[in-house]
Amino acid sequence: MARPTRQKPSVNPNLDRLQTYPFQKLSTLLGGVTPNPRLRPIAMYIGEPRHPTPEFIKRSLADSLDGLASYPPTHGSRELRAAIAGWLDRRYGLDGIDPDTEVIPVNGSREALFAFAQAMIDPSRPSPVVICPNPFYQIYEGAALLAQASPAFLNSVPEHNYAFDFGQLPPAIWERTQLVFVCSPGNPTGYVMPRMEWQKLFDLSDRYGFVIAADECYSEIYFDEANPTPGALQAARELGREGYPRLVVFSSLSKRSNVPGMRSGFVAGDRNVLKKFLLYRTYHGCAMCPPIQQASIAAWNDEAHVAENRRIYRDKFSAALAILQPAIDVHLPDAAFYLWMPTPGADTDFAQQLYREQAVSVLPGSYLARESHGINPGSNRVRIALVASTEECVEAATRIRDFHASL
Ligand SMILES: Cc1ncc(COP(=O)(O)O)c(C=O)c1O
Repeated sequence: MARPTRQKPSVNPNLDRLQTYPFQKLSTLLGGVTPNPRLRPIAMYIGEPRHPTPEFIKRSLADSLDGLASYPPTHGSRELRAAIAGWLDRRYGLDGIDPDTEVIPVNGSREALFAFAQAMIDPSRPSPVVICPNPFYQIYEGAALLAQASPAFLNSVPEHNYAFDFGQLPPAIWERTQLVFVCSPGNPTGYVMPRMEWQKLFDLSDRYGFVIAADECYSEIYFDEANPTPGALQAARELGREGYPRLVVFSSLSKRSNVPGMRSGFVAGDRNVLKKFLLYRTYHGCAMCPPIQQASIAAWNDEAHVAENRRIYRDKFSAALAILQPAIDVHLPDAAFYLWMPTPGADTDFAQQLYREQAVSVLPGSYLARESHGINPGSNRVRIALVASTEECVEAATRIRDFHASL
C-alpha cells in the first residue's frame, strides 16, 4: 500500500493573489490598542445596516416556512421576478423590464458580483483586465483575480468631485478590458454617476466590447425625497439604448430594507448576458431559499419603510454634520451612509489614536484603495459608517470632533 506523503494539496494559485480584507487589516491595526476604558466603544467602521428589520418582512418570512420543503429554482419564482421587475419599472421609469429574461434574483449583491466575474471573463483571451473604481468595494478585485484577470483602477478623488476620468487609462488597457465594475452610489465616497458619465462609459463599452457591472446596492439611501438617485438602467433607457447592451445592475435589499442577514438582491439588464449568467448559476448552486423569496416580494412591494429608513439616515447625517462641519472639511455625500472624512495625518494613525483616546473605530481609507496613477486615493481619509442609532452617531461625532481638535 502506498504510504501517505506530506505533499501540499494542490490549490488555485490565484488565492495567493488575494489581499488581506480591510476589516482584518483594521483588526491588526487596533489589536494591541486598549480603547479608553472610561468610554463605551462605538463601531463606525463597518457598513452593516443596524436599523431594525421591518416587522412585516419578518412576518412574511415566518409565514412562508413551508417553502423549506422544496428545492427552489435557480431563476427564483415568477412572483419574485415580477415583484423585482415592477419595482424597477416604478423606480426608474423603465416601462416593462421583462421578469423572465432581464431579471435574476441573487443571494445578496456580494455573491452575485463575485460570481459574475467568474462567468464573464474569458481567460483564453490575452491578459484580461477588470476595471475597478478606486477606492472600491473589495469584492471586485478578488473576483477579478480569481477569474484570472488583472485589476486596473480608475481613481475617484475629491479634486474631481469623485467623477471618473476614463482618460486615466490608455487604449491598450481598454482593449484588454472584459469587465468594468462601477459603484453608484459609491462606497465609500457616496458619489452618484450622472447621465453624462454613463454616456461616456456606454460609448467605451460599445467601442471595446466590455460588460459593465453596475453595483447599485446603496441606491435607496439618498437624502432628498424629490430626487432619487438615478440608476444605470434608467440612464441606458434615457439614452435610447434598447435592451441594455452589455449592462447588468446589481441591487440588494440589505441596505434598502435593513435585512443584511436575509441575503437577498437581484441582477437585471442585458438578456443575452443574463442567459449565460443563469447557466453559470445553475451549476454554481445558488438558488434563493423560498421563505426568503416570499419575504423579498413583500419588501420590494413596499416603499413606506424605505422612506422611513431614509428619514433616519437624513436625521443622523444632519446631526453628525452639525457637530463635525464647523471643525472638519467633511460633506454630506450624494447618497449612501458613509462620511469620507479627511484626516490631518496618516489615516492609519488617525484611526489607531482615535480608538485609543475616544474608543471610536473607523476604517482607514487607504485600506479601501490601491496605489494607482501615483497615489493611493484613500490615503489621509477615513470611512465613517453612520449605521448605529442617532444617539450613538451623535456621541461618536462629538468624540471625533474633540479628538480632531486635540491634534
Ligand atoms: C459597494 C457594495 N456592494 C455590494 C455590497 C454587498 O451587499 P449585499 O451582499 O448585502 O447585497 C456591499 C456591502 O456592504 C457594498 O458596500
